[in-house]
Amino acid sequence: MPERYFLPKKAMFVIGTLLIFLAIVTSAFEGKPALDKSENKRDSVASVSAFRTVYKVLTSPRCMNCHPSGDVPLQGDDSHLHAMLPQRGKDGKGLYAMKCSNCHQPENSVGVHTPPGNPNWHLPPADMKMVFQGKTPHELAKQLIDPARNGHKNMAKLIAHADDGLVLAGWNPGEGRTLPPVSHEEFKKAWLAWIQNGAFAPAP
Ligand code: HEC
Ligand code: HEC
Repeated sequence: MPERYFLPKKAMFVIGTLLIFLAIVTSAFEGKPALDKSENKRDSVASVSAFRTVYKVLTSPRCMNCHPSGDVPLQGDDSHLHAMLPQRGKDGKGLYAMKCSNCHQPENSVGVHTPPGNPNWHLPPADMKMVFQGKTPHELAKQLIDPARNGHKNMAKLIAHADDGLVLAGWNPGEGRTLPPVSHEEFKKAWLAWIQNGAFAPAP
């Protein structure tokens, strides 16, 4: 009976069309920032504008001093090289007798010019330096969303990093040190706005 064969053929045509449609939709997402599709409200102007605040914080001394271009951490509001030149080491925790945790305790030490404290105080590791120092807004934005350079973070992990212990340490810097340019709340708001609007990089 020809009708018997007609229906399955029609069904196959419908399924085939659907598959092609799906392939087109999926490929349209490729090459774009690995944004969580459920939060896909891309707005490049809002994203780039929010990144201005993010950049201002990341390149402020409380953050940049641990994200140096070299292998020695920086100190002070002028981001000079750390006294006695402790080295990054493979794991970022220092080399030989100059381990960060020898001097940097779990809590801030009392008094000015004493080591700020955190149980996890260290630099990013040698194979993933996450340099902020000297980066343009374009370069830094590109680096932050690149899993090969951001510590293998997907967008969810990147978002969560706003509340990371060492990020929060920037707002508890120890006596006599200035705070980052905006509050942690404002930073987090800008960080989310940048990412959730598509994590766009400002023009080079
Ligand atoms: C004590 C040193 C230290 C301080 C201070 C510090 N960081 Fe970091 N930061 C690290 C280390 C170590 C890592 C890598 C660990 C990880 O990725 O989980 C990191 C990773 C990051 C990352 C993820 C890397 C990337 O490229 O996406 C971001 C973003 C970041 N820090 C932002 C900040 C901000 C913002 C501040 C200041 C408010 C700050 N950090 C202060 C040590 C520090
Ligand atoms: C011999 C002790 C000692 C060692 C080892 C040491 N530090 Fe420090 N660090 C200090 C002191 C003291 C200060 C405060 C200096 C000041 O404020 O004048 C400081 C300040 C800093 C600052 C500046 C914080 C800011 O907000 O400006 C950073 C960043 C830092 N250390 C990172 C590290 C890292 C990372 C390591 C390991 C690779 C390390 N330090 C190893 C003693 C040490």
